[in-house]
Amino acid sequence: MFQSLEALPPDAIIGIMSLYRQDNDPRKVDLSVGVYQDDSGKTPVLDCVRIAEQQILEEQSTKSYVGIAGNAGFNKSMESMLFGVNHPTLRAGRISSIQTPGGSGGLCVAGHTIVRAKPEARVWLSDPSWPNHMPLLKLSGLNLEQYPYYDYDKHCINFDAMINAFNTLRSDDIVLLHGCCHNPCGADLSKEQWNLLADLFEERGIVPFIDIAYQGLANGLEEDAYGVRLMAERLDEVVVVTSCSKNLGLYRERVGMTSLVSKDVERAKIAQSNLGNVARGIYSMPPDHGAAVAGRVLSDGELNKLWLKELGTMRTRINSLRQLFVEKAEGRNAPRDFSFISEEKGMFSFLGLSRKQVVKLREEFHVYMVETSRINVAGINQSNVDYVVDSIVAVL
Ligand code: LMR
Repeated sequence: MFQSLEALPPDAIIGIMSLYRQDNDPRKVDLSVGVYQDDSGKTPVLDCVRIAEQQILEEQSTKSYVGIAGNAGFNKSMESMLFGVNHPTLRAGRISSIQTPGGSGGLCVAGHTIVRAKPEARVWLSDPSWPNHMPLLKLSGLNLEQYPYYDYDKHCINFDAMINAFNTLRSDDIVLLHGCCHNPCGADLSKEQWNLLADLFEERGIVPFIDIAYQGLANGLEEDAYGVRLMAERLDEVVVVTSCSKNLGLYRERVGMTSLVSKDVERAKIAQSNLGNVARGIYSMPPDHGAAVAGRVLSDGELNKLWLKELGTMRTRINSLRQLFVEKAEGRNAPRDFSFISEEKGMFSFLGLSRKQVVKLREEFHVYMVETSRINVAGINQSNVDYVVDSIVAVL
């Protein structure tokens, strides 16, 4: 029966991570998968997480199921973090949320719920978008399209092209936006652009679907939620998927949440029951540990303070690495202007290299990045920055 299956190429991101792990060269540098690394190249367990974990392990008295919607305290704290505790839509009871196995599990639940509500719905993805958006959402049966987003020559958002594309959309078309730290290009919408999009979406009946996997890693926890909060205030319906992989460093614990904003409380209750029913049909119930930890960190005053400090350290480090990379490239008279990298946000930027140059970097210099030349800026550190920049200049 399975003889009809064909071997597939490795995943665009995880495949590079595996190649990196197999490489024994001491000079190797990993700029591939989007995980935060500190200056020693480690992806640490945050102190706030370690403390919360110890407390939970000591107190835990059962391993019985938590429930389909997951940890209620986690969902509540996450909604407050995402929308803001006094958000009018949250206070009006128009938001339904469910804990999911990571942001990817959240996208999957959102995708299936959209298909259930409107099988012919079209979801528009930015070009480019996270390489897994397309295959993951396709599995839920969605009709996927793309809209122009990034200008590869000018290294910025092509906002006019984007607006022109949205002006052709139909009511109930869904547009997937990155809440902050655009993956893979790092070019984020400004507040003014979010405002214009909210006007346009309201006018045309377009539904935003916001994937916000990096809240707190661009400009700050509150600042990064601008688009989510605006859309949830202005529009009747919004889909939001978030993740605790990056900002709480809970990657392997798989912690995320799907939220639906509905027109009124009655519809929000219906949405809640459908989110639960969809999740039950896919994986039944989410894992407990990571969400229990995240819920505790978000709700405990002391742990929350510690987390904000640790999050601030990660954010500041990423932003200063962007600056450092640009300075080092300028210092070597690189035959390419990389100054756009210091303007972009979050872990990722495109270097603008060809696939051939990326392969050369990997095979000759042991510097690993996604073949589109997306780098994870957080993989740079004081010990490897000169080597990384020299290698890039060498292949240009
Ligand atoms: C990335 O884009 O590198 C991360 O989101 C990890 C992943 O699963 O692709």
